[in-house]
Amino acid sequence: MPKVELHLHLEGAAPPAFIRGLAKEKKADIGGIFDARGNYTYKDFWDFLKVYEAATSVLTRPEDYARLTLAVLEESAKSGVVYSETFLSPDFCGGRDVGAWREYLHAMREAADQAERELGVTLRGIVTCIRHFGPDKARETALCAAETAGDWIVGFGIAGDEKVGKPKDYRWSFDCAREAGLRLTAHAGEWGGPDSVRDALRDLGVERIGHGVRAIEDLALVDELAERGVVLEVCPGSNIALGLYPGWRAHPIGELYRRGVKVTVSTDDPPFFHTTMAREYDRLHDAFDWDEGVFAGLARTSLDAAFCDGDTRGRIL
Ligand code: HPA
Ligand code: ZN
Repeated sequence: MPKVELHLHLEGAAPPAFIRGLAKEKKADIGGIFDARGNYTYKDFWDFLKVYEAATSVLTRPEDYARLTLAVLEESAKSGVVYSETFLSPDFCGGRDVGAWREYLHAMREAADQAERELGVTLRGIVTCIRHFGPDKARETALCAAETAGDWIVGFGIAGDEKVGKPKDYRWSFDCAREAGLRLTAHAGEWGGPDSVRDALRDLGVERIGHGVRAIEDLALVDELAERGVVLEVCPGSNIALGLYPGWRAHPIGELYRRGVKVTVSTDDPPFFHTTMAREYDRLHDAFDWDEGVFAGLARTSLDAAFCDGDTRGRIL
């Protein structure tokens, strides 16, 4: 089945062998971030963020990001992904310097064009700030986003540690991105509860929520999401790997869907969570008995909620 993915972190999708290879080329010591089988290893979400940043530290040049983009889209294509919206980070690509950021984007764009021709997968970028890096860095990130809005840069978002600060601390950045014509999404309702989702909707004016699954703890909020048509970028395998839910049947995506919320399915950081889009679909089928009609509906919902223009959307499904 053709799949549409709306929530993927480019660095978080880096195959471990790719990061190891780059570390070797650059003689970089990235410490014990791999287990005996060569997979990423971490204790919990906060440790995951550290391992993520250590792995990312070997990506130091635009050409590294070009190779990364191609490696990631090859994996996506294997799962049948035809359209991918991916979080891109000026924090890691040139330290939020607009000139450097443009060079990284140019390199990623060339790789994406190649992937579109050869693999049939279309990439669009969502520039993301990182919450635990603080509001000042987020402002610089938003300026990078605003300077490069348009073409294949379609959105702005916030990731990172949801327990740090409040959405309203990042309002300036989201206003700046919106004024530049970017569409908005925010990670919320993963490590924070229903109020975190409410705050992101109210204070940042986002139209999609990254994760959002903990809305299930407040059914009035679930009804509100359903009524307003807020789209959740749900990443069940990520939530389960990070211990938010004990297993697939316990994951709230089934109930959110039943209650009429516009849920979509993505992988977040697939090698970290030992997942792929194909695996997410398989597990959801097993856990909730979802059939092809449900999955076709999910892909439609995802594409309707994609931040690309109508022409691009028309070419995809
Ligand atoms: N949550 C928050 N920040 C992140 C994630 C996530 O799942 N993945 C990469 N950065
Ligand atoms: Zn995420």
